[in-house]
Amino acid sequence: MRSAGLTLDVLNGRFASMSWVGLQLLGVLCLVLAAWVSLTGLVAVSAGEVVQISSYFALLTGALTNLLMLLPVGARGLESVRSIAEVMQEPDLEENEGRAGVAEVHGRLTLDAVRFRYPEAARDALVDVSLDVRPGETVAFVGPSGSGKSTVLNLVLGFLRPTAGRVLVDGQDTADLDLRTVRRWVSVVPQESVLFEGSIRDNVAYGLPRLTDERIRQALVDANAAGLVDALPDGWDTVVGERGARLSGGQRQRIAIARALVRDPRILLLDEATFALDPESEAAVQEALGRLMRGRTTLVVAHRLSTIRSADRIVVLDDARVVEVGTRDGLVAAGGRYARLERAQGA
Ligand SMILES: Nc1ncnc2c1ncn2[C@@H]1O[C@H](COP(=O)(O)OP(=O)(O)OP(=O)(O)O)[C@@H](O)[C@H]1O
Ligand SMILES: [Mg+2]
Repeated sequence: MRSAGLTLDVLNGRFASMSWVGLQLLGVLCLVLAAWVSLTGLVAVSAGEVVQISSYFALLTGALTNLLMLLPVGARGLESVRSIAEVMQEPDLEENEGRAGVAEVHGRLTLDAVRFRYPEAARDALVDVSLDVRPGETVAFVGPSGSGKSTVLNLVLGFLRPTAGRVLVDGQDTADLDLRTVRRWVSVVPQESVLFEGSIRDNVAYGLPRLTDERIRQALVDANAAGLVDALPDGWDTVVGERGARLSGGQRQRIAIARALVRDPRILLLDEATFALDPESEAAVQEALGRLMRGRTTLVVAHRLSTIRSADRIVVLDDARVVEVGTRDGLVAAGGRYARLERAQGA
């Protein structure tokens, strides 16, 4: 993408300079020709008319160059339209039309005997998962890589549909709901936060055109991101993303947290980053996450003991199945799978 953009820019530059040189040469040629014609008296052209013709010619070439300059811009625009069309033509995975919408979400989540298998996968990614999460509760999912933690989050988000069983929000089966109305109350902070190309402000507020500056500012402050944003050359107007300013993983995560905060969700899905942060950013991210999780139903795929400890309940997944559920103290006392996991993490 980036190299394609660069090629286009180089091409643009070459094209612009070549056409400019060409037209200037043509202008000189025209002037010489007119002068020669007038001097030799081949055609009756006066010196004044030569001047007039050449000034007309300058006007004409100017206009032509401007027109030619539009060509690459047009090409770029068409390319964008094409890529938008590609996205629009993707068959919609969801049939939301005609389904009942929800006016509000309180945040109760229920998984009822959920089984899930990815298309063409040889085995189930989740088997018989049942769980009832009350509004405001924080549930941490732990387990080895590939045990199905991210799959649970995607099922709740409705990006995946259970192969069997049901996913309910506030007691209503999500299979019968217009998921777009549900998602308005759900925020996701993914494992790897992605910023699109645009200003920090756009990145935080996208999709919410009527946000006030104060709310965005408050979200950045609560996400512990206000300091890092102020340190950027243009503050929150600094362009980040593919061709913009580079932010570190921890910085990007805090912007993503601000993005989630500003939406004031009832349900929060958090796939904790596995990359290591320096202790200072780690503390800043943890503190921001704590603020984000307060009072909201939170499902968090946790890799850090500090996150796990602040959870109300812990679900231990292994090989697509729930093997343990309980509070941290309860699980440690039980001396089972979780207790071993914590010992292994050296706590
Ligand atoms: N798109 C997919 N297509 C097919 N199989 C998949 C797909 N995504 C995940 N899986 C499989 O489903 C199982 C659960 O994957 P999942 O991503 O939920 O694991 P995870 O617990 O989040 O792991 P990690 O800690 O590494 O992120 C794995 O066996 C994985 O190979
Ligand atoms: Mg995962």
